[in-house]
Amino acid sequence: MRTNWLGWFVAGCAIVLAFALLPTLTRSQSPHSNHALGDPWWKHAVIYEIYPRSFQDSDGDGIGDINGITSRLDYLKELGVDAIWITPVYPSPQVDFGYDISNYEAIDPQYGTLADFDHLVSEAKKRNIRIIMDWVPNHTSDQHPWFLESRSSHNNPKRDWYIWRDGTGPGQPPNNWQSWFGHSAWTYDEKTGQWYYHYFYVQQPDLNWRNPEVRKAMYGVLRFWLDRGVAGFRMDAVSRLFEDPNLHDDPILPGLNAFGDPNIEHKYTQDLPEVHDVLREVRELVDGYPDNPVLIGEADEPNIQDLVKMYGSNDDEEQLPMDFQLADVNKLSVPEFRRLLDEIEFNPALGQPYFFFSNHDQSRTWDRYGEGAHNDQIAKLMATILLTTHATPQLYYGEEIGMRTTTPTRIEDVKDPVGRTGWPKDKGRDGERTPMQWNSSHDAGFSTAEKTWLPIPPSADRYNVAVEQRDPDSILNFYKHVIALRRQLTALRSGAYVAVNRDDEDVLAYLREAGQDSPSVLVALNMTAEPRTVSFKLNGFGISANSLTVLLASPKQGKTELPLKEVQLDPFGVLIATVK
Ligand code: GLC
Repeated sequence: MRTNWLGWFVAGCAIVLAFALLPTLTRSQSPHSNHALGDPWWKHAVIYEIYPRSFQDSDGDGIGDINGITSRLDYLKELGVDAIWITPVYPSPQVDFGYDISNYEAIDPQYGTLADFDHLVSEAKKRNIRIIMDWVPNHTSDQHPWFLESRSSHNNPKRDWYIWRDGTGPGQPPNNWQSWFGHSAWTYDEKTGQWYYHYFYVQQPDLNWRNPEVRKAMYGVLRFWLDRGVAGFRMDAVSRLFEDPNLHDDPILPGLNAFGDPNIEHKYTQDLPEVHDVLREVRELVDGYPDNPVLIGEADEPNIQDLVKMYGSNDDEEQLPMDFQLADVNKLSVPEFRRLLDEIEFNPALGQPYFFFSNHDQSRTWDRYGEGAHNDQIAKLMATILLTTHATPQLYYGEEIGMRTTTPTRIEDVKDPVGRTGWPKDKGRDGERTPMQWNSSHDAGFSTAEKTWLPIPPSADRYNVAVEQRDPDSILNFYKHVIALRRQLTALRSGAYVAVNRDDEDVLAYLREAGQDSPSVLVALNMTAEPRTVSFKLNGFGISANSLTVLLASPKQGKTELPLKEVQLDPFGVLIATVK
């Protein structure tokens, strides 16, 4: 009897204690405080986007290729890259530089052969680097045999693989939907007297995802590449897979866009609920393969709520929807970054955040965030946000050496269809797709050709891999250092994220908390062009020390131990430090 009472008493005390501790535990354990051991690889991977046309040319034709990528794997390994996402290398008329695919299960001869691709996969594997392919499910090229069949007659079995409709009158498209690349999203086809729908360019007809045979064929494509050993897919334009079957007109907004068309809300052509059915099916398919293949979604959603839907309701859709909200802050605003970091970190789906700032559709970070006088320093600051939060980071080739956007100055030189249609208001995306700058030699070490497909930017002499490898303060060495820290420190790898000094509008600061056994990491970023002195009170975060130990600072700090109550940061200064 007595033992029983004692037992109940002890159990009761334990329960009371647990409830008393609960606020502390939940505060310091963000939903993501995960244990590195059981995590899928993509939670801790550094992913590097390669635009293959511009990375490395191995055969001297002025266009990058697969063997070129293979020859640069050691560079990627040294940088600390775990996986590369390669934008489309499939056979294509190259109207949209690979995003108009005419065969999903082969390699365009411009880029090499399937054997070259297999060689890349196996060489990458030797270096522990995974390959992620681009899956373009929304549309094919108008030269794809499926579309050639589809357009051949009303009765062709593939007619329904695409979206064909009658116009509303002679020369009148079925409704007011507009292409993302300008003008009507419908093109008239003389032969059968109907219009086909294309969310993107005229040469990119949309597949009809309500047709089960289309789904089957496109899922076959996923299997084809998974069977060849790829580690997952970046899914192109997935939110555009379905459009309203009743063809309601989209709402017109005030003003004109760069193409001279009325602004429009793409209400009936994106984010239809059926997108999620497809995402669930795709997830189930990839989950059937070993080693956790990843689905990265081009989720350029209008807000974080819609972005979060891409994770699915039960971790059953994309593992990594790209956070366009964060990528598009487009100014060094501490409150804006803090709000977005909080929102995605504490997202209700408990999904893993996925950050990037540059890609092949967006002008480069160096100019977009740079204010003119401190761009190199700002590049380091942006690298720090990218690489020290909880998110899986994605780098875009050349970002790590501070490549800048080099926009064409004459319409005759423009290659991107967007630039040709949008000139001069929208000069297109060539500027962020120029060849990688490897060294100061001819063609910046990218090629041996007389002329490269896009010109080598004038900045290549000073901003290139060879020059920056020798300079300890270069952007490249900064990236390497932060990636290495991310790998070494439990706190940066998997610690919980918590914002500190939340009222400061000039300095963005956060802690990564690793728990009892490892020190926490403090990150502080001065987003102004003036020096700032910051005082941190971290006792509420279980930190008793009064000083911090610098791990990495740019510009360099004079001392390695700094008092928490008085931390000085230079203009756009970056500090990564441990605190106990
Ligand atoms: C995606 C790609 C872009 C391409 C478009 C059409 O947005 O990132 O480069 O032009 O889809 O496929």
